[in-house]
Amino acid sequence: MSCDKVYKAPRGTVDILPAEQSYWAHVQRKAADVCRLYGYERLDTPVFEDYSLFARADAEGTDLVEKEMYVFEDRSGQKLALRPENTAPVCRAYVEHGMFNLAQPIRLYYLGAAFRYERPQAGRYRQHNQFGCEALGDASPSLDVEVIELAIRFLEALGLKRLSVLLNSIGCRECQPEYVEVLRNHYKALSERVCDDCRIRMVRNPLRLLDCKEKECRAIADEAPHISDYLCPECNEHFQEVQDQLRLLGIPFALNHKLVRGLDYYTRTVFEVLPEREGGQSAIVGGGRYDGLIEQIGGKPTPGVGFATGMERIILNLKEQGVEIPEMEGPTVYLACMGQLPRHTAVGLARQLRDAGIGVVSSTGSKSLKAQLRQSNSLNMKYSVIIGENEVQAGTAIVRDMSGNEQLTLPLDELVEYLSTPPRTSAAM
Ligand code: HAM
Repeated sequence: MSCDKVYKAPRGTVDILPAEQSYWAHVQRKAADVCRLYGYERLDTPVFEDYSLFARADAEGTDLVEKEMYVFEDRSGQKLALRPENTAPVCRAYVEHGMFNLAQPIRLYYLGAAFRYERPQAGRYRQHNQFGCEALGDASPSLDVEVIELAIRFLEALGLKRLSVLLNSIGCRECQPEYVEVLRNHYKALSERVCDDCRIRMVRNPLRLLDCKEKECRAIADEAPHISDYLCPECNEHFQEVQDQLRLLGIPFALNHKLVRGLDYYTRTVFEVLPEREGGQSAIVGGGRYDGLIEQIGGKPTPGVGFATGMERIILNLKEQGVEIPEMEGPTVYLACMGQLPRHTAVGLARQLRDAGIGVVSSTGSKSLKAQLRQSNSLNMKYSVIIGENEVQAGTAIVRDMSGNEQLTLPLDELVEYLSTPPRTSAAM
């Protein structure tokens, strides 16, 4: 039965085609390299988790939980969610596997998908991939600085330029409520001028008032009192130390009193890294400290700090800035053959070459030799190895250097050695 439906990847998702893979491999390799430099170990968690891991009481009023999560029940009736972010799952794994019994802090990193029902646009998807780091079990400001430095080192190692770091502290359970009251009062007198969403934020999530993208609301937020003036002495000391160490390392940053982040769990330090792009200023890195999260999900009170970056946004910026990335190493040999007997010889030869670590694309021999060589050319092969009836009789093969189109005939048992050495350019032949 034929099917009339034309299938497409769901809205807000993309296929990562072979031509894109060299970007992905490069970014993933750099992430692993930089994590090794700082002693962060990889952790992979499932793409779905118990719904309530994300929909915690404290998370009420955040768009991520209320509007953007992919929620479903499995066949047993358990309520699950595709993870909208990776920090809560990492904390869940930390508690579940008793990592608090090991020497602290625990340094972890991840590379994996996150799912958010957002309005898709350039650099914003419903499935995106994050690289992130989390350092758990130590409240020192040095760790805040470590994760910021790691993120910057990663972006610079990729060759990204013109980055700016925005920094703020949103206080702790002790001092934040006082500031929230001050903020509410600031907005109360102006409630006629703010957007509908902000009127709801005034009640449910006042800190997010500072983050509104509406023009009028932005102007009001600019005039809002600064949280840095309301920090308790401990939060203030922590914030000053983070800034001192960043200056010590020569990492430029700008303080931004409106930076509050979209997730509920942050305490003290919050930061973002923005690329200098025309138009929309989307953060490529977002992170901060979350000293209450592990307790909220059932662990003992445990501090944590980390960041995540969207790989799609990184790749977008690499392309926009024209950064060259290394090509992925592909097979070098195209094996062409004509006729039944040569095909049998070619099958054995392909196996022998691959056993020796030489990448081979085998032709099935069903096309003309000309078509086979055209394919070899379009696949950018260094060599074509050609086997016809005559070569089978003589126990040889023709080797064509695809860059210069020079060719020579070699005994089959000399092929491995010849093809293992770098190709000769036509000038060198
Ligand atoms: P986030 O700011 O929501 O933070 O996301 C981190 C990064 O993921 C963003 O800076 C952006 O590069 C990328 N990103 C987010 N949403 C999308 C999207 N819809 N499409 C493409 N890229 C996106 C978090 O997720 C926190 N868990 C970060 C963190 C780790 N905080 C502490 N530890």
